Order: sequence, then C-alpha cells, then structure tokens
Amino acid sequence: MIIAVDGPAASGKGTIAKALARHYNLPHLDTGLLYRAVAATVKRLDLDPTREADAVAASDFDELTLADPVLRDDEIGKLASIVSAHPLVRAALFQRQKRFAHQEGGAVLDGRDIGTVIAPGADAKLFVRATPTIRARRRHAELQGRGATTTFDQVLADIRSRDQRDSSRSTAPLVPAIDAALLDTSFLSIEASVEKAIALVEARRGTRP
Ligand code: C5P
Repeated sequence: MIIAVDGPAASGKGTIAKALARHYNLPHLDTGLLYRAVAATVKRLDLDPTREADAVAASDFDELTLADPVLRDDEIGKLASIVSAHPLVRAALFQRQKRFAHQEGGAVLDGRDIGTVIAPGADAKLFVRATPTIRARRRHAELQGRGATTTFDQVLADIRSRDQRDSSRSTAPLVPAIDAALLDTSFLSIEASVEKAIALVEARRGTRP
C-alpha cells in the first residue's frame, strides 16, 4: 500500500506520516529532507540557490547530509523552498522518491507533490492543512524549545512566504490531488489527527478494488 501525505509546513503532515508508517508497518520517507539536503549543500558550498545550475549541482549531495541536524533549521527550510522551485532539481530527486514509493510492500511518503507527481496512483492520499496562524504557533513553540530567538511574527511571515512560493511555482506546486482526502488539524490534538488520518486511509482502502 502506498500512502501519500502532502501539505504545507507545520501542518502536522510529518507527524501523521510517521504515525501511519508505524500503524501499517511501512517504511517512511520525509521528502522535505531531500530538498533540505540540497539547500544545506548549496549553503555549504556557497552556491546561489536562485541559480538552477547551482542547485542542480547540489542535488548530488553526500548521503551523510541527510542525518545533519542543521537540516531542521528554519533558514534551511526557507532555502529548500527556493531550490525546490527549480524543475531540474525536482527532476534530479524524482527517481529516488518514485523508487521508494514503489518498493515491495509499499511505503508512506510525505511532502508537497506526493499525491500529484511522485505517486499519483497511491492507494490513499491525504492533504493535511491548518491555518497559517496555528502552524506558526506550532513552529514558534518548536523553535523556542530548541533555544531559537525568532519572534512569532517572523515565523508567521516565513510561513506565509513559504506557502506563497510553494503554491505558486509552475512545477509541482503545493495543491491537493483531486482525489486527496482533506484533513484539517487546526483544532485537533496530535492523537486525534492521527486517529482521523487512519480512518481516512481505511475509508480509501475500502473503496479500492
Ligand atoms: O516539508 P519541509 O518543510 O521539510 O520542506 C522544505 C521545503 O522543501 C518546502 O517548503 C518545499 O518547498 C520543498 N518540498 C517540495 N516538495 C516536497 C517536499 C518538500 O517542494 N515533496
């Protein structure tokens, strides 16, 4: 079974995807990490994230980069949304994600374009969302927990500009697949979100031959 989980930053999609993977005993890929690894490599090599050729060169990143805690930094998230808008960067990471999705037994992948581009034939597709203010509140709390001094207003502005960039790019924009089930986590606890996600996957499974 392939489960596609898409949605904007801090919507809860990562937590939900991990929980689904545990529940169904499937391997999980956080595809955002791949774009973050490209971003971190661009930064390390002092390349220009807005130049497609520079970002493509960084797409051949060292595998060890994927385990670097720096990938979680907000600055890298911002850079990731710049490098991910280049069609050739998306093309460079496409096969790897596709292979992961189609491995024997299935998989759970989360990102922005899993249900639309990477695994359009997925057995279940969820589009997870929450209001920008609530997502900013979650992200701000997480950053404070890690000792960062970013203000709430900065976090909210970053979330809005990342949404705008991710939704307006011409290649693989952040939009729900036409057959995705929408899951709004704005007023749900983590437990309730996961429960609902499992119920939605079960409902989708039930409708497939
Ligand atoms: O999900 P995460 O915040 O880690 O993703 C970082 C950035 O990578 C996103 O803002 C988005 O621009 C990009 N991304 C993408 N497609 C994916 C996953 C992430 O474009 N499948």
